[in-house]
Amino acid sequence: PTAEGWTADLAGRHVVVSAGGTREPLDPVRFLGNRSSGRQGYALARTAAARGARVTLLSANAELPDPAGVDVVRVESAAELHRAARAAAEDAHAVVMAAAVADFRPATYASGKIKKVAGQEPAPIALVRNPDILADLAAHRARADQVVVGFAAETDDVLANGRAKLASKGCDLLVVNEVGNGKAFGTGENEAVVLGADGSETPVPFGPKEALADIVWDLVRARLR
Ligand code: CTP
Ligand code: CA
Repeated sequence: PTAEGWTADLAGRHVVVSAGGTREPLDPVRFLGNRSSGRQGYALARTAAARGARVTLLSANAELPDPAGVDVVRVESAAELHRAARAAAEDAHAVVMAAAVADFRPATYASGKIKKVAGQEPAPIALVRNPDILADLAAHRARADQVVVGFAAETDDVLANGRAKLASKGCDLLVVNEVGNGKAFGTGENEAVVLGADGSETPVPFGPKEALADIVWDLVRARLR
């Protein structure tokens, strides 16, 4: 057991975790972004390192200190995260996509700052879809035994939506949070259910993001060869 009381059950493993939220540039000074704090991804990186893993943390705009003993790669946009994730996944035993990836980006990037024009309303901003990084990683695994994990925030029929999303992404595990009612965003605590492609369902009681992270690594560990 380590000082934290955990055995180093991820020793010799390389895990990749994405965290934060992507920013999609519009011009040199503006972007479309989201409110993801990065805390869940950082908790995953810290707990994996504490359990002996080599950890690559792909950090999308999180304003959090680098966790000790973790390789931090800073990215901005979904396109940058996609490239970094593909490269880091090359020799990874597990990839966990905890980042909030923008579904859309501005169709064009203005290389000069967009200016107001006197007496004119602004032009609408056209958007195009970003690639689905999680689905791409799951479909093109660098190793046959790689474990791929996604996160989803859902409302309404949370479990049915989660099952459908797990299947469409092709990942092994999907951590599903219920949002609304003051849950999940920007807090230190989380409540979730982890769905497995094998049909398993692991409820995670409301508690610190570290506790959810440790359950995710338990489930990943059980799927590693
Ligand atoms: N994700 C991704 N690339 C995207 C969008 C999402 O890798 N372009 C990942 C997220 O990191 C997360 C998982 O997919 O692990 C689920 O994200 P979510 O936004 O819930 O899924 P979407 O497929 O975008 O569905 P929705 O239309 O509900 O937003
Ligand atoms: Ca989405």
